[in-house]
Amino acid sequence: MTEAAERAWSTTAAMFRLITGFWVSQAVGVAAALGIADQLEGGPRHGDDLARAVGADPDALQRLLRMLASLGVFAEVAPGTFGQTPLSETLRSDVPGSLRAYAMMQCAPGRWLPWGRLLDSIRSGRPMAREALGMEHFAYYAQHPDEAAFFNAGMAEVSAWAAGEVLRVYDFSRTRVVADVGGGHGSLLAAILRAAPGARGILFDLPRVIATARPGIAAQGLADRCELVAGDFFEAVPEGADLHLLQQVVHNWDDAEAARLLGNCHRALPPGGKLVLVEMIVPSDNRPSEAHLMDLNMLVNLGGRQRTEAEYRSLLQAAGFRMERAIPTQTPFYVIEAARS
Ligand SMILES: C[S@@+](CC[C@H](N)C(=O)[O-])C[C@H]1O[C@@H](n2cnc3c(N)ncnc32)[C@H](O)[C@@H]1O
Repeated sequence: MTEAAERAWSTTAAMFRLITGFWVSQAVGVAAALGIADQLEGGPRHGDDLARAVGADPDALQRLLRMLASLGVFAEVAPGTFGQTPLSETLRSDVPGSLRAYAMMQCAPGRWLPWGRLLDSIRSGRPMAREALGMEHFAYYAQHPDEAAFFNAGMAEVSAWAAGEVLRVYDFSRTRVVADVGGGHGSLLAAILRAAPGARGILFDLPRVIATARPGIAAQGLADRCELVAGDFFEAVPEGADLHLLQQVVHNWDDAEAARLLGNCHRALPPGGKLVLVEMIVPSDNRPSEAHLMDLNMLVNLGGRQRTEAEYRSLLQAAGFRMERAIPTQTPFYVIEAARS
């Protein structure tokens, strides 16, 4: 092959891999849903044995695992026998660093079907949940408790990923009461309360989320230091905290909705109170960043957006906050600190 032909081929191959990226995503999601990584906890197993254990067609499962192993998710340690790799370890349930629920959530219809309408989003500038799911994003989860369980668990997995870094770069030790607004199952709040034993917490989310959050908070021995409050943050946010934490919440909303939410935080916080956002920031120089993909995810599902640092500054200023710092972490997330004026 000539050098020019080789270059053309590798460019075509690179584009082929980009185009078929959604095949990979679905394959990972299926391995997660079947619980293959949990089945390999005791060591490598033959594909036929795994198929019996998870209720799959032996030939189809072999082909799935062969494909995933070619990408480093599982390893084919002997013909037809598969074992764990560092990547497949992240598909185990309930282990530090697990992304199993996140994989299931991203590949389930609630996320998958709106992404199939991305073209319509790009043409119209609008989210496609209503067209693809028949209702808005969070209303869909209210109607589909199974998917909502993966959604909440998946968000908690990503929170746990960010939590160590948030605590490394931000000192919560002088905070009296932290309110985790749209806090889901309170994974980050729990980590903060463990690191700052003098602080108390308020976990605030929609009623159906709060209804399933209590066991997790209690299991961590935090029931007496954490109040669980159900409500709608577009109506009001609980008072009594000196710091409001919003992790991956503002990005769900367009500027007008985000302004309403931040305005409610402003009303509930005392003067000088702190607002801490944990978000991916879109780099101003367009270098590679997970923020770009997340930005489209927000557009197609919710009509929200990832923002640049300058966009956060003006959004916060308009709601009566002075942005003080945007602290990078060793994850895609930044800790954005603002003070209520
Ligand atoms: C992307 S999740 C982030 C969850 C959590 N902060 C985390 O990082 O794991 C957004 C959260 O906002 C909550 N939420 C959405 N609309 C809300 C509303 N109107 N009032 C209160 N919470 C809401 C959702 O239920 C969900 O838990």
